[in-house]
Amino acid sequence: MAKITDILRTMEYGPSPESDEHVRAWLASHRDGFGHFVSGRFLKPGALFDVNNPATGERIAGVTQGTAADVDAAVRAARKALPKWSGLSGDARARHLYALARHVQKRERFLAVLESVDNGKPIRESRDIDVPLVARHFYHHAGWASLTASEFPGHRPVGVCGQIIPWNFPLLMLAWKIAPALAAGNTVVLKPAEFTPLTALAFAEICIEAGLPPGVVNIVTGDGSTGAALVAHEAVDKIAFTGSTEVGRAIRQATAGTGKKLSLELGGKSPFVVFEDADLDSAVEGVVDAIWFNQGEVCCAGSRLLAAESIAEKLYAKLRARMAHLRVGDPLDKSTDVGAIVAPVQLERITRLVDQGVREGAKIWRAPGALPERGCFYPPTLVTDVEPASTLAREEIFGPVLVTMTFRTPDEAIALANNSRYGLSASVWTENVNRALEFAARVKAGVVWINSTNLFDAAAGFGGYRESGFGREGGREGLAEYLVADAPKGRTNAKALAPPALTALPGQGPAPGADAIDRTAKLYIGGKQARPDSGYCYAVLDPKGAAVGLAGLGNRKDVRNAVEAATKASSWGAATAHNRAQVLYYVAENLEARATEFAERLRAMTGASLREAREEVETAVRRTFYYAGFADKYDGAVHATRTRFVTLAMNEPWGVMGLVCPNEAPLLGFVSLVMPAIAMGNCVVVAPSAAYPLSATDFYSVLDTSDVPAGVVNIVTGDSATLAKALADHDGVDALWYVGSAEGAKAVEAASAANLKATWTRQAPLDWREAQGREFLRRATQVKNIWTPYGE
Ligand code: NAI
Ligand code: MG
Repeated sequence: MAKITDILRTMEYGPSPESDEHVRAWLASHRDGFGHFVSGRFLKPGALFDVNNPATGERIAGVTQGTAADVDAAVRAARKALPKWSGLSGDARARHLYALARHVQKRERFLAVLESVDNGKPIRESRDIDVPLVARHFYHHAGWASLTASEFPGHRPVGVCGQIIPWNFPLLMLAWKIAPALAAGNTVVLKPAEFTPLTALAFAEICIEAGLPPGVVNIVTGDGSTGAALVAHEAVDKIAFTGSTEVGRAIRQATAGTGKKLSLELGGKSPFVVFEDADLDSAVEGVVDAIWFNQGEVCCAGSRLLAAESIAEKLYAKLRARMAHLRVGDPLDKSTDVGAIVAPVQLERITRLVDQGVREGAKIWRAPGALPERGCFYPPTLVTDVEPASTLAREEIFGPVLVTMTFRTPDEAIALANNSRYGLSASVWTENVNRALEFAARVKAGVVWINSTNLFDAAAGFGGYRESGFGREGGREGLAEYLVADAPKGRTNAKALAPPALTALPGQGPAPGADAIDRTAKLYIGGKQARPDSGYCYAVLDPKGAAVGLAGLGNRKDVRNAVEAATKASSWGAATAHNRAQVLYYVAENLEARATEFAERLRAMTGASLREAREEVETAVRRTFYYAGFADKYDGAVHATRTRFVTLAMNEPWGVMGLVCPNEAPLLGFVSLVMPAIAMGNCVVVAPSAAYPLSATDFYSVLDTSDVPAGVVNIVTGDSATLAKALADHDGVDALWYVGSAEGAKAVEAASAANLKATWTRQAPLDWREAQGREFLRRATQVKNIWTPYGE
């Protein structure tokens, strides 16, 4: 044994292992392997795969590889349990969630040790962060179970939810998925990651203990093929996925056109920005929590350190000094800071990426000291001399590797921060509140931490911008993902209209047998009328087949020009909501002043009666007033998270939205999509009704006379499918609404997989008289949560 005087000389920690006795006993009692958890009981184990402790390489369990038949059994169980569970009173569901929270708390230590043994994360983190947050999540959502009916009137549960989670926070991600789903009245089939299925199976036991009705939670273990079977299952109503962007894209493809609701929480390459006036010592501790928390296997890890040039060297020096004190080793040791990497493949991936970075010229620095001799360990690594375009600056490494770059001005900091296809989180360090909040407003990220990092709470939304996915988890905005709005109750008088086959006519016509036609309606791009790139137009026919006008036949190039114009008009999003409201009021007034003319146009195109046509125009006017009124009222929230933090949930516009309008209701359909989108500050590229585009082209002059800035509304007429595809393919379109056919919806969703834009597809016919409300505003925005500390 070391003498006290020796210890005082070296100040070395002795080992301080947490006991794994209970976990070992539990694993021993499942020596024959774990089966799936279906309908409230464990099935007999099937073909097993090995589950390992990454810190030792030791096999600790055998778990069943789920087949499509297993998935089917679990989905059936969930479907069977659905009516009763969703029919329970909110309070009754709340009691169940509350019981789950209580039981998690009772088993806190066991779950923490099991998590560390399975995943390799330090016990300090599983004990103090993961498991307490799991309990917090179930408590929080027990509350939502009681409140869903009153807080979300007119909504119902989605149904059976397929949930697929990764290995980095196995039990916490389970809680993030299961708690809101159950609170809202859904039943679930969850597939844990193949590297870390054990805490999910322990949770299944908790479900039994806590008396959860059979079939409400089902757990099927297995690898990606099991996940794919769950995604493909017809009786699943929603998929919630957390994991790699690559698999997220595959899931977007696989669910395209199926009507399954989808939320994706994907990767990140999040900036950690240190301005010259930051408290550097706090920032250094922040870096430790940003990138060495959970071995850097964190989707929102602050993996790109952007430092003001003037303090960069000083910051790196402090960082190196701090790194020398990070303790890498046994996850069960209470003084370990950095544990084991989850599995050999992940260790190889990290090693490969860093090696490639070094070949590209990056310099790496690591603290001296040996790693444990066995197990999957990677040393905390600081990377300098990287270019913004280099592999290490762009790719998600998902390991304890920090890359650094410098900036000179705040604008440059923002530009560098946003120079990523991802947009999950950002952390900013400065003592200047104005600078911090300006950065928070301008950074493209779903979560922003000011002078802090990696803070989570059940009451705050979490989720990304751009290729980090869509949808939120946590808080009110997360719960909304597990609900759907009831279909409007009003009668649907609309008839679905088959998309017309458009015949391209050269230039300005002539239209067949139509002397009433005086001109071709052009496109409207950047506030100006524009000829279509193709040089072609098409005849707009009334129901009897007589031509009532000509419209431009827009193509991909026109869409590109329109997106460019919309992007240039982005200051619309920064205008005050009051200003936007004024512009919308003006639009409504000008439309009203020309009601007769618009009604006549509708009659001529669609053959509607005068009464119907008038009603459509009047409703369009009222709808514009409605969204004008809402422009400065659909505001955000301050979430009640931690003490000494205000967590601001801001509704931000997407930026550029594509809107593909229905054929029916040529004016009202157009207005119903355009007005909520621009009221929230988006600039839009609209494909109006292909059959009856002339109400939209008449609308140019309303826009022109109503002070709508150039580029805020751009209109491209033509074939809906062509224009929808061009919008879906365009990287500059941040979100896309599509109303039309089932095949059209499928094409749009599939094409959107490439850049993971958020889509909202609805099948015609809809009763457009009813189509307005908060849901449109929610879909026109994304929520950014900004964690703002106060106090010294
Ligand atoms: P992954 O995305 O393959 O795994 C996540 C989950 O998806 C697992 O449960 C897996 O079984 C399942 N899955 C895999 N293929 C599927 C498919 N085709 N259909 C349905 N489910 C499927 O991630 P993986 O391979 O474990 O890690 C690779 C990289 O992904 C990591 O190096 C990291 O960069 C990133 N990653 C990001 C995560 C995040 O939270 N953002 C989490 C895990 C990994
Ligand atoms: Mg494991």
